[in-house]
Amino acid sequence: MEHYLIHGGNRLCGNVVVQGAKNSALPILAATLLCRSTVELHNCPRLSDVKVSCDILRSLGCKVTQEDDIVTVDPHDTVNCQIPEAMMRAMRSSIIFLGALLARAGSCTICLPGGCDLGARPIDLHLSALRQMGMRVRETHGRLCCDLPDRLHGAKIVLQFPSVGATENVLLAAVCADGETELVGAAQEPEIVDLASFLSACGGKIYGAGENTIRIVGVPRLQGALYTIIPDRIAAATYLCAGAMTGGDIQLRCVVPQNLSAVLPLLEEAGCTLKVKRNSILLRAPRRLKSFGTVRTMPYPGFPTDAQAIFMALASLCNGTTIFVENIFENRFRHVSELCRMGANMKVVGRAAVVQGVPCLSGTHVEAMDLRGGAALMLAGLAAQGDTVLTEISHILRGYEAPDQVIRSLGGDIRLIM
Ligand code: UD1
Repeated sequence: MEHYLIHGGNRLCGNVVVQGAKNSALPILAATLLCRSTVELHNCPRLSDVKVSCDILRSLGCKVTQEDDIVTVDPHDTVNCQIPEAMMRAMRSSIIFLGALLARAGSCTICLPGGCDLGARPIDLHLSALRQMGMRVRETHGRLCCDLPDRLHGAKIVLQFPSVGATENVLLAAVCADGETELVGAAQEPEIVDLASFLSACGGKIYGAGENTIRIVGVPRLQGALYTIIPDRIAAATYLCAGAMTGGDIQLRCVVPQNLSAVLPLLEEAGCTLKVKRNSILLRAPRRLKSFGTVRTMPYPGFPTDAQAIFMALASLCNGTTIFVENIFENRFRHVSELCRMGANMKVVGRAAVVQGVPCLSGTHVEAMDLRGGAALMLAGLAAQGDTVLTEISHILRGYEAPDQVIRSLGGDIRLIM
């Protein structure tokens, strides 16, 4: 079985060019369905989730090619409006095809999406918003059959929670709908701004992305465009933590520091020295890390739920107590029991985890339970004494582009064993 063999203890030093953002690439790939000519996406990360998105587009009739970080989509001959069940189940972001396909084809049949097991991940907000724009849904045998008795139309929609996925679905459905849509309570993540920038580059009229209220004026059609995806802020945070945990010295290049404004102060509190420039971040780790108080996951601009596991690995080595409160997902502490097997001292109490830092971790056999939890174990292995065998790494490859190669280039000892 494919796994990582990590010999811990090496200081990680050197440069990392941060990969393109997974959580931008997936909705933007879905959005290409709306274009009437070819789209060329640059800085598209080479991830298994991106491959699934490309396969979904192909199954719908698009021509898709991928060369290095450039994905080209010719959506001209979209013929199908049914997404195969295995592809829907392969990742959570498959649900974003709902808004795009509805707008493009007028109907679609999908099953409920899969993805990391983080507890209940309902889609009621997505469905309610799209219903307000004219969608009709029937559920039969676990499949959702969605269609439009009339055309999609603009609406005033209020989200009870700033759901990232629901905001993306509304943007995709509204951009070519009849009339104007006002979305109040929208998610404000940088990846939402990136999707809106892509749609605008294709001719969409979107105002206020990144704010609480987004206004979308429907246009008859979108054209293709050449577009460059933003850097991945969670991959950036991961490599910064890897540097911090190994006593290292890391420079991130091709990064947007303001998208990390909830993350960088915690690294400083932990004792790291940071030098932040326009597109780069330099991190120098202290001799001993310090605990950094209480971390609460929140919608952007708060601390990202996707960085919680990674910072918990960091906290496991900090002198003192750090508390994590997970407010977004109900079951996002599955890495805790694995980190404890490596000698971490942490306890989960309901939605909170209390981490008492230890001087060192020790390598052992651990299993990645989900994408970010898997990344946390990889970091723990790099900092630990001895050897770590990390299995179920397919979770990690959903979100990180060749992380073993990146880490080896920094001096880490990690090998992919097939
Ligand atoms: C979430 C994260 C996003 C992250 C992604 C992958 C937030 C706000 N969103 O996005 O940053 O990149 O996971 O890990 O941090 N919800 C409902 N009904 C719905 C939709 C969502 O109740 O129809 C609830 C979810 O159960 C969850 C919360 O809203 O508690 C956040 O969901 P949402 O932002 O939609 O999740 P993702 O789009 O997966």
